[in-house]
Order: sequence, then structure tokens, then C-alpha cells
Amino acid sequence: MNESILVTGGAGFIGSCFIRHILSNEDVNIVNLDALTYAGNLENLKSIEKNPNYTFVHGSIQNAELVKSVCEKHNVTSIINFAAESHVDRSIMNAHPFIDTNVLGTLILLEVVNELKLKLMLHVSTDEVYGSLGETGKFTESTPLSPNSPYSASKAAADQLVLAFVHTYNTPAVITRCSNNYGPYQFPEKLIPLMILNALEDRPLPVYGDGMNVRDWIHVQDHCEAIWTVYKTGEQGQVYNIGGNCELTNIEIVKSILKQLNKSESLIKFIKDRPGHDLRYAMDIEKIKIKLGWSPKINFEQGIKDTIQWYINNPQWCNNVRTGAYRDYYKKQYGEM
Ligand code: NAD
Ligand code: DAU
Repeated sequence: MNESILVTGGAGFIGSCFIRHILSNEDVNIVNLDALTYAGNLENLKSIEKNPNYTFVHGSIQNAELVKSVCEKHNVTSIINFAAESHVDRSIMNAHPFIDTNVLGTLILLEVVNELKLKLMLHVSTDEVYGSLGETGKFTESTPLSPNSPYSASKAAADQLVLAFVHTYNTPAVITRCSNNYGPYQFPEKLIPLMILNALEDRPLPVYGDGMNVRDWIHVQDHCEAIWTVYKTGEQGQVYNIGGNCELTNIEIVKSILKQLNKSESLIKFIKDRPGHDLRYAMDIEKIKIKLGWSPKINFEQGIKDTIQWYINNPQWCNNVRTGAYRDYYKKQYGEM
């Protein structure tokens, strides 16, 4: 019988990429447990929804009975936890859902792993748990955690719980921490898809502060391949940094999108900075490279070109995700723009 993996949050941006990728390349069963929040979208999984190795379950990782019964029913042997509230700006508006899902939800999963004696839990985390860098240096796995936003604090709390479970109960778990992802199917609250869609419609491109904050960009496909590598060959109790070796300022990203779309830089609108805005993230990925043999493959120039083309080719997807709730969020975040 095939191995069965419970993927949580598989209807989101990265989880859906992971499921599409794994079902096309590996002979495993995937059970996707997703609460279908505003960020969860089953359209992201249309291409594999009829795959006999795939099952979707609508529900929350905060529901312990449900998680347990899904694992038992489908003979799940391991969990890969993508489920999260993932947007920093929303966490600044209201931190509660972040604690509920990112912290308490992770706790529930860890307890189920212990109770059912599962083989492994891979917890998907972020470089933001390390806080912010100055102009030099990189985050390594031993950089102390120093989160600055309610989102990153909730992710850091979850990471600490995972490590505490490994230490206290010998829970078989591993953590990945990745830098900023981009690629198809990303919800347009995040920098790159928001700027692409606004530019396509000649609407203002809202850049926080002076646009000089730096992020380390990785294509979502590379991230998913790294997660699979860690899942297969990572060592229990370890943390693995994942990154794209591609540091860019926000203004460089925005200008490159405008250039590719042949749009004017006059669309750029500098607006009030994000409160507590981290200046710079950069990942040292030597550990995963040396110990597990993974490195990113997709260069940013090609990746962003393909991503822009994907948004151009999928107007229906773009319209469907920009619902009334999205427009309300946009107005709250950016005012009348
Ligand atoms: P996303 O917001 O696109 O998707 C999150 C998914 O989780 C959605 O499908 C949503 O419905 C689901 N979900 C939310 N609460 C849930 C709950 N209680 N139970 C079950 N499902 C629930 O997020 P993403 O960008 O795909 O990020 C996935 C993971 O990767 C997150 O843990 C995030 O912290 C981490 N991460 C993201 C990035 C990035 O750049 N996007 C980088 C590093 C790490
Ligand atoms: O670093 C990994 C993290 O990357 C993930 O853990 C998060 O889930 C993911 O959302 C992302 O967080 P960021 O806050 O870095 O991503 P975001 O796309 O929101 O912003 C990227 C940069 O662009 C950041 O410096 C803020 C800026 N920005 C963002 C938006 C949405 C703008 O200038 N204007 C905007 O409208």
C-alpha cells in the first residue's frame, strides 16, 4: 500500500503547488485537510482533483477529533503542515486568527502525531522567525529567534512548540524555514501578485516606506522540492533553512514588473510604511545544500517572467479571488486608491 501523507493547508499557494508537484512525480496518497479560509482555493487543485491518490477534507487543524479521525481513516503515516494565516498586514490588523491556527493548530497536530505514533511531522515555517537583518549578514539555523510581527511571533511560537515536543517526547518532527515565495496561484494580497494585477489594470502600485526593504526571493516550485527533500532525507529534530539566494529591494521588484509589462513607473505610489516593517531578510542555505544536496534551480529573471505570464493567462482565476471580501480588505489596508 502507498504511503499516506496528511497535507494541511493544501488549498493555499504553497500547499497546492506541493500537492500538484508530488502527485505528478511520486506514488503516494495525499489527504488535504484545509479550512478554506479566504486564502484557500480549490481552483488551485483543479488539475489533480480526480487523481485517485488524492482526497480533500474540509476542516480545521484546530479540530483534534477531526484530525485524528482523518489520520485513522486514511492510514496516514505523516503530516506536512502548511496550514497557517500567512499575511503580515492582516496579523497587524488582528492577531487572534494567527494564534488560533498557527500556534494552537500546530499544537493539535503535534499531539495527534504523538497519540497515533505517526512516523513524521514536517512543519513549514519561515525566515521571518529570525527577525530582521541590518545591511550585512544572513540567517543561519542557529540565529536566535526574534520575531517582530504578530504573524512571525505566531510562527516562532509554533517552531518552539515543535522543538519542545522533539526534546520532551521525542516526537518525530522536522522544521523548514523558507524565504519569500513567488509563482503562480499566489493570492494577490502579497507583494508580487498585487503589483502584477494592479499594473495590468493601470492602478497605483502601493510601495511601503521608501521601497528599500530587502527580501530573499524563491520560486514556489523550488520551495516545494526542498520540502520534499527534507521530508525524505532530513534528520529528526533538525531545522533546515531554504532560500533562493536572490536578495532584491521591493522597489527593484516593482520596477522589474512594470518594465516587463511595458508600464510607466508613474504608477508607483509610495505610501505609509508597514508598522514594525523588517528591513532585510537573507538566508544562509549551506546546511540543506551540504547535508541534503538541495539547491534552488529557478533564476528570478525567468521565474518572474513566467509568473507574470501566468497571471496574464488566468484572468478568471484572478477575478474569482478578488471577491467582495478581498475588496473590503484592500480598502481597509490601502484606503481609496
Ligand atoms: P496561504 O495563506 O496561501 O495558504 C494557507 C492555507 O492554509 C489556505 O489554504 C487556508 O485555507 C489554510 N488554512 C488556514 N487556516 C487553517 C486551519 N485552521 N486549518 C486548516 N487549514 C487552514 O499561505 P502560503 O503562502 O501557501 O503559506 C503556506 C505555509 O508556508 C505557511 O505556514 C506560511 O507560514 C509558510 N511560508 C510562506 C512563505 C511565503 O512566502 N508565502 C514563505 C515561507 C513560509
Ligand atoms: O519571508 C517569508 C514570508 O514572506 C512568509 O513567511 C509570509 O507568509 C509571506 O507573506 C512573506 O511575508 P512578507 O511580509 O515579506 O511578504 P509581503 O508580500 O507581504 O511583502 C513583501 C515586501 O513588500 C515587504 O517588505 C512589504 C512590501 N510590500 C508589500 C505589500 C503587500 C509593499 O511595499 N507594498 C504592499 O502592498
